[in-house]
Amino acid sequence: METTVTRVRSGGRAHSPADSATILDLLPAPVVTLDAEDRITMANAAAEQFFSASAAYLSYRPLAQFIPADSPLHGLIHQVRKGNSQVSEHELAIESPRLGRHFLSVQATPLPDSPGSIVLMMLDRGITEMIDRQMTHRGAARSITSMAAVLAHEVRNPLSGIRGAAQLLEQNASEDDRPLAELIRQEADRISTLIGRMEIFTDYGPFERRPVNIHKVLDRVQRLAETGFGANIRFRADFDPSLPPVPGDHDQLVQIFLNLVKNACDACPEVGGEINLRTAYQHGVRFTLSGRKEKVALPMKVSIIDNGPGIPEDLTSNLFDPFVTSKPNGTGLGLALVAKLVGDHGGVVECESRPGRTEFRVMLPFYEGGELGEPV
Ligand SMILES: Nc1ncnc2c1ncn2[C@@H]1O[C@H](COP(=O)(O)OP(=O)(O)O)[C@@H](O)[C@H]1O
Ligand SMILES: [Mg+2]
Repeated sequence: METTVTRVRSGGRAHSPADSATILDLLPAPVVTLDAEDRITMANAAAEQFFSASAAYLSYRPLAQFIPADSPLHGLIHQVRKGNSQVSEHELAIESPRLGRHFLSVQATPLPDSPGSIVLMMLDRGITEMIDRQMTHRGAARSITSMAAVLAHEVRNPLSGIRGAAQLLEQNASEDDRPLAELIRQEADRISTLIGRMEIFTDYGPFERRPVNIHKVLDRVQRLAETGFGANIRFRADFDPSLPPVPGDHDQLVQIFLNLVKNACDACPEVGGEINLRTAYQHGVRFTLSGRKEKVALPMKVSIIDNGPGIPEDLTSNLFDPFVTSKPNGTGLGLALVAKLVGDHGGVVECESRPGRTEFRVMLPFYEGGELGEPV
């Protein structure tokens, strides 16, 4: 019988119980043990995070208090007790106001020496899917970067030639022909403006990463919004001031959060619109980024949360692609640029949305390099 977790706990000679507890806390997956009455008897650090409650609070509380009674998870536990053998299930959906919505892979194993007790290990599919999706965004950001370069070099130059020629024609043309020459010039200008928009995706080589105080960035973005497009919206900032700076470019970071806050404002209801800017330390989540072998920790979590109607369902799968928009005058370039700039900063952007609550999360590394200059 597979009893991975218990084997670690009762490992005897090689590991003292203290070691096992530490190891359990290092696991990214929530692990809890249940007694025969389905009360939580042990919870590791990931479980505390998953249930948004401390181990002390969780202790001896019924699991049903956290996971809705009609959830298939309870059936699974019942099955394990009845068969006294391990059961795994993938794609188990769990939804509650406290936990939000999760897709879990769950493994439930009976504890050998205490009848009725069970070890429950949950793997949030969200994390793996999130990484997959971010990889796709990065792909999109890369292709848009090369497209922007092609447009800038291969189209801009001949276009200015066309424009100049049309201008000459306009001067010498007959009354009848002049409107046509004018049309050519105006259309050339329109294409040029479009290409200009794409220019924001052009790479100008590696940029210098300085320590940036993320709270100053967010303050600035909030002020810009309050005095402009978000004047009718109530902003709330929940910052953890103890967080260290992040490595990056101040102006680009402003651009990232300005785009996200602008979208949040656009989505907010006319009356009663609320946006919450949040920073928090995210413990223990590590990401595999493209082009890198080792996993990186992205402990800085910045959230932009609005109370709008949520992302239109048909957009969710390619939200970060260029030209995806639901707005009559939208460009659909805002989130594509966010994905590119967050990627440039070695971070990850992710979105979780339901009607009434949309959260864009940007995860970034902490600044570690060199001598720590004054954060800008
Ligand atoms: N906070 C949000 N709430 C609801 N929908 C959003 C939000 N942010 C982005 N969207 C959706 O994503 C689309 C793409 O956003 P973006 O790339 O910034 O382009 P644009 O704002 O020009 O439409 C928007 O048109 C909108 O449908
Ligand atoms: Mg936008």
